[in-house]
Amino acid sequence: MDLVQGILGFLVPIVGFSALLVIWPAVTFRSVALRMFNALFSENMQGKVVLITGASSGIGEQIAYQYARKGAVLVLISRREDKLRRVADKCIKKGAMDVRAIRADVSKEEDCRRFVEDTVDHYGRLDHLVNNAGVLQGFKFEEAEDSHVLTTIWAITFWGLIYPTLYALEHLKRSKGRIVVVSSVTSWFPQPRMSIYNAAKAAAFNFFETVRIELGGSIGGITIVTPAFVESEMLMGKIVNKRGAVEWQEDLRDTQLGPAPVAYAEECAKAIVRGAVRRHRYVRYPYWTTVMLLYRIFTPEVLDFLLWLLFLRPMPGRKDGAPLSKVLTEIPGVKTIFYPPSIRNIPPKQQQSKAA
Ligand SMILES: NC(=O)c1ccc[n+]([C@@H]2O[C@H](COP(=O)([O-])OP(=O)(O)OC[C@H]3O[C@@H](n4cnc5c(N)ncnc54)[C@H](OP(=O)(O)O)[C@@H]3O)[C@@H](O)[C@H]2O)c1
Repeated sequence: MDLVQGILGFLVPIVGFSALLVIWPAVTFRSVALRMFNALFSENMQGKVVLITGASSGIGEQIAYQYARKGAVLVLISRREDKLRRVADKCIKKGAMDVRAIRADVSKEEDCRRFVEDTVDHYGRLDHLVNNAGVLQGFKFEEAEDSHVLTTIWAITFWGLIYPTLYALEHLKRSKGRIVVVSSVTSWFPQPRMSIYNAAKAAAFNFFETVRIELGGSIGGITIVTPAFVESEMLMGKIVNKRGAVEWQEDLRDTQLGPAPVAYAEECAKAIVRGAVRRHRYVRYPYWTTVMLLYRIFTPEVLDFLLWLLFLRPMPGRKDGAPLSKVLTEIPGVKTIFYPPSIRNIPPKQQQSKAA
């Protein structure tokens, strides 16, 4: 067996790499041609039924508006009903054919079964399922008070994408519908203080890659989205702390973001919905973050060092132990240049929602 492994260890890299040199240009040519075709003949969403989780704020809210503009019928899911109703009203004004707002918690399997069944009972079909809901972690693994904190984040950020898919699948098969999955650039970019969140995003990414192969052509396809630095409540500082409570923490937000250029949620949602109706496998937004993937593959040590230097190492002379990322945001004008106005300051206490 050692001999077989030895021979394979020698041959497979040579054969594999040589084959790639031939296959890669051919596949690239095919995918460019396919992209052009799909851009010309994108899916018409008029009257189609779209279910969006996490639609009460941020990216999910803007995704709802983009589908509304295309005349879709929308089912919006989140835990804050008042916010959801406001989004629903705006969707109608923007052109949605009809909107239903359903209060549900995606970490609860029963809630997910209920909102999928409610959708199909009411509209008779389901065409797009957008798995978007999520919560952000803001503490190091060693700081977690107990495992419950970790399982709570995991339940929303991983199972919250799987349960709706489980119950929606037979309906999506019937309509040849599409699944849109909002993962994250952190599925391969190991940003500190987000270990369980990053793991859940990576797990979801791989889950849907596998399901895509299993399902083949029995549904319309799966679009996996990996956003980074997009304006939303998370990036305003709504973060799950080490005790499992949601807290609005501007200082921690600044530490986690540093001088990262934060994109507008509307632009991100446009890219997501455009990618979905054009049947793309992936939407990377903003696209430039993909360059960092090369560092992850070829020089992970360099990436580790840069992340430690920027986000963890206390700056010399700082009594509060703030790392470089936080110190950079304190330079006058930095936030004005890099952050959209909506996230520059956290909302006053009375406007902060505690939904965890
Ligand atoms: N913003 C970014 O830079 C960025 C980057 C990468 C990935 N993402 C991903 O993008 C997705 C959207 O987040 P966002 O950035 O737009 O943040 P956001 O403004 O905080 O939105 C999160 C949404 O998820 C909902 N949600 C949270 N927990 C839920 C639960 N248990 N059940 C149902 N709904 C729940 C929230 O509504 P309620 O609180 O009302 O329930 C809200 O509508 C998330 O999956 C996030 O991980 C964001």
